[in-house]
Amino acid sequence: MKIVEVNPEDRELIEKIYQNEIDSFGVMGGADMWMIMSFIRYGKLYVLLDNKGKLLSVAQYQAILGKNAVFLYGFSTPELQRGKGYGKRLLELSHEALRKNDIEKIYLTVDPKNLPAISMYEKAGYKIEELQKDEYGKGIDRYLMVKIF
Ligand SMILES: CC(C)(COP(=O)(O)OP(=O)(O)OC[C@H]1O[C@@H](n2cnc3c(N)ncnc32)[C@H](O)[C@@H]1OP(=O)(O)O)[C@@H](O)C(=O)NCCC(=O)NCCS
Repeated sequence: MKIVEVNPEDRELIEKIYQNEIDSFGVMGGADMWMIMSFIRYGKLYVLLDNKGKLLSVAQYQAILGKNAVFLYGFSTPELQRGKGYGKRLLELSHEALRKNDIEKIYLTVDPKNLPAISMYEKAGYKIEELQKDEYGKGIDRYLMVKIF
């Protein structure tokens, strides 16, 4: 198992990431190909792969202008791979990689009802900073969570 920073040339891998977005999030909240290429070129897109190149987990970070901070736009583990510790491992490894890029702070938003994700983030050192009411539309609330290294 290894972490890989995705490059624009990794087309086969990018297709797998795109398919996982649709499987994990459907039409709401997942990243389309335009966003995926933007994370790769202007943020950081990390994946956890097994020894045969199978996708185990995906982390998409956006740069925040003028700050040593990033926004974790998307994080998901393909359904068949969930509950095996891959999300936790990718969070740890991507945090290490971001630290080497002088990142000091990570923000993310999460559905207050998404208890597995909240639990994972809390174990990784994220804290709930505020409830953002109607953040993504009427009735679509989010917790803003923050990790400071
Ligand atoms: C949330 C998600 C990324 C977790 O990934 P994963 O690879 O299954 O997680 P792991 O197996 O590494 O588990 C890490 C921690 O997450 C929590 N967790 C994972 N699955 C859980 C479940 N079904 N119920 C409760 N907690 C759970 C636990 O705290 C776990 O730590 P533990 O192993 O010490 O109990 C995955 O369920 C997923 O992709 N969900 C759909 C997309 C999504 O909601 N992404 C987050 C958007 S902000």
